[in-house]
Amino acid sequence: MLTETAIFDALRNVQEPELGRDIVTLQMVKDVVIEGPAVSLTIELTTPACPLKDEIERDVRAALGGIGAAEVAIAWGAMVRRAAPSQPQSLVPGVKNIIAVASGKGGVGKSSVSANLATALALDGASVGLLDADITGPNIPLMMGVEGAPAATPEGKIRPLERYGVKVISIQFFVPEGQPIVWRGPLVGGAIQQFLRDVDWGELDYLVIDLPPGTSDAQLTLAQSVPIGGALLVTTPQDVAVADVEKALAMFRRMSVPVMGIVENMSAFVCPHCGEATEIFGRGGGEAFAKRHELEYFGGIPIDVKVRQGGDAGIPAVAQREPGPAAVVLRDLARRVAARMSVRAAQQVPVLTIS
Ligand SMILES: Nc1ncnc2c1ncn2[C@@H]1O[C@H](COP(=O)(O)OP(=O)(O)OP(=O)(O)O)[C@@H](O)[C@H]1O
Ligand SMILES: [Mg+2]
Ligand SMILES: [Zn+2]
Repeated sequence: MLTETAIFDALRNVQEPELGRDIVTLQMVKDVVIEGPAVSLTIELTTPACPLKDEIERDVRAALGGIGAAEVAIAWGAMVRRAAPSQPQSLVPGVKNIIAVASGKGGVGKSSVSANLATALALDGASVGLLDADITGPNIPLMMGVEGAPAATPEGKIRPLERYGVKVISIQFFVPEGQPIVWRGPLVGGAIQQFLRDVDWGELDYLVIDLPPGTSDAQLTLAQSVPIGGALLVTTPQDVAVADVEKALAMFRRMSVPVMGIVENMSAFVCPHCGEATEIFGRGGGEAFAKRHELEYFGGIPIDVKVRQGGDAGIPAVAQREPGPAAVVLRDLARRVAARMSVRAAQQVPVLTIS
């Protein structure tokens, strides 16, 4: 005879591999129903973009099979938790996790990574926002294929534009097309704060912020005024890019912003004709950097014409009908970033307060 106690005991042997604890302790098992030898239950993941879902499913089936369950029906849910402790004075109370995408050097692919990361998280079922914090060179509207003027809500907030399931805000929406944006430092910081405060983001699992290059006012304001759950650094393999990302890392550490890891973009070019890989910007810069600073290395995104074309056409690589080599890596990157945030959330005290 299957009992609820026996089921929970068996499931205590199933680990959430990233979090290193069992799924019962993590309160991931819900709605257990027993009908004779059949069991149905819901497993509530810590993110819909969980990279380890298959592994967990396999272990759950094995554990329940081991105590005589002949039939196991699993429903999946997800409850994203906060990685940064929520602050009462937070500008964005409905946003659970803020992910800032940063680099030292310009042109390494922050905006491309931001757009694809946000889109990939949304494709996996998360509620996602994307804030273009590059006030003087906003590229996100083009890359996401959004234009127009955001409407105001009845409460007088700015309603973000939505594309690919992602809520998008950029300064570009508020200036006449083709007009250069010349702002001085303090204004830039003010604009970003205003975007956080005055935009109706609603409830978001993840807000991805695309930062301008360098360690400018935008980064500093942001680091000071919002609880960044994790900064994702972007570099190319090239020495100059790595040297610059070093400065960005130092700045985040000085400001006590957690840096979750680094991704290397434009890692190599794989020839679509013969499959040969050419390391146009050299190799290994990102990985060596990660090792040196004890950061997670999120791998290398290849140079892929679909990223460039998609960026120019407003269709992020991960949203394209036929994903290229970069899109595969970017989908995986999004899941690993989400998993990293779940791990950070689980490390918060008190453990697993669901907010
Ligand atoms: N993996 C890639 N494969 C091919 N092209 C890429 C890749 N990553 C980025 N690009 C292209 O390189 C250019 C620069 O990328 P992007 O604008 O994302 O960089 P950035 O770091 O945001 O730049 P900036 O510092 O100016 O904000 C874009 O034209 C983009 O389409
Ligand atoms: Mg950019
Ligand atoms: Zn070739």
